[in-house]
Amino acid sequence: MKKRIIGFAVILIMYSLNTPVMIYSQDISLPSPSRKGGMPLMEALDARVSARLFSDKDLSLQQLSDLLWAAWGINREDGKRTAPSSHNRQEMDVYVTLRSGLYLYDAAACRLKQIHNRDIRALTGTQEFPATAPVNLVFVADLAKRGLKEGQQVTDTDKLSSWSNTGFMAQNVYLWCASEGLSCVIRAMVPRDKLAPEMELKPLQVIILAQSVGFPGE
Ligand SMILES: Cc1cc2nc3c(=O)[nH]c(=O)nc-3n(C[C@H](O)[C@H](O)[C@H](O)COP(=O)(O)O)c2cc1C
Repeated sequence: MKKRIIGFAVILIMYSLNTPVMIYSQDISLPSPSRKGGMPLMEALDARVSARLFSDKDLSLQQLSDLLWAAWGINREDGKRTAPSSHNRQEMDVYVTLRSGLYLYDAAACRLKQIHNRDIRALTGTQEFPATAPVNLVFVADLAKRGLKEGQQVTDTDKLSSWSNTGFMAQNVYLWCASEGLSCVIRAMVPRDKLAPEMELKPLQVIILAQSVGFPGE
C-alpha cells in the first residue's frame, strides 16, 4: 500500500513537472534454483528427445528458475555458468517469451527483466507449435561482449563461439526437461529479421536459436 502511494506521488510530481511518465515494468522475481535432485544423468540422456506437442499449462516459477539455471545459470562463486563459453566471454543472453510478454534472464539477480508485455511466442518460429508452447527461449549472442563494434565484420570465430555456446545451453535444457518430464525442441527455423525488432534487439545482438518448452500435449 505504502509503495503504491509513493508510486502515485512520483507519477503526480513527474506529471506536474511535464516529465514523461514511465510505466513500471513487471519484472518477475524467480525463486532460487533447486540445484539438487533430478533424474540420474544416464536416465536423463536415455530420455532426451525432441517433442513438439505442448499442453497450455504454464510452468511454475520454480520450474522456470530451474530451467533457466540449467540453460545459463551461475554455478560458481566466480560467476561462471552451467554452460561453457569461449574465453569465458559469456556473450549469450537468454530471452524468454511467455504469454505475459518478453523477458531477459538475469542469472545473478535471479530475475526476469521485462522487455515488453506483448505475447510474441508465435513470432519465435516459422512452425505453428511455438505459439502453443508456454515458454520459448531465444538464445541471443551479444557481439559487443566479444569486443565487436557496430559495422565491424563478424568473424567465423565469433559465429563458432555463439553457435557452440548455444548448443551447450540447449542440451542442458533438453536434459533438464527429460528429468522434469517436460517437452522441448531446439529450433533453427526462426524468422530472425522479423523477430529481432519485436525483441527490441540492438544491431550487435544476433539471434542464434530458439527452444520451445512446456508440458507434453496430446
Ligand atoms: C541445430 C538444430 C536445429 C533444429 N531446428 C529445428 C527446427 O527449426 N524445428 C524443429 O521442429 N526441430 C528442429 N531441430 C530438432 C531436430 O529436428 C531433431 O533434433 C531431430 O529430428 C532428431 O530428433 P531428436 O532430437 O528427438 O533426437 C533442430 C535440431 C538442431 C540440432
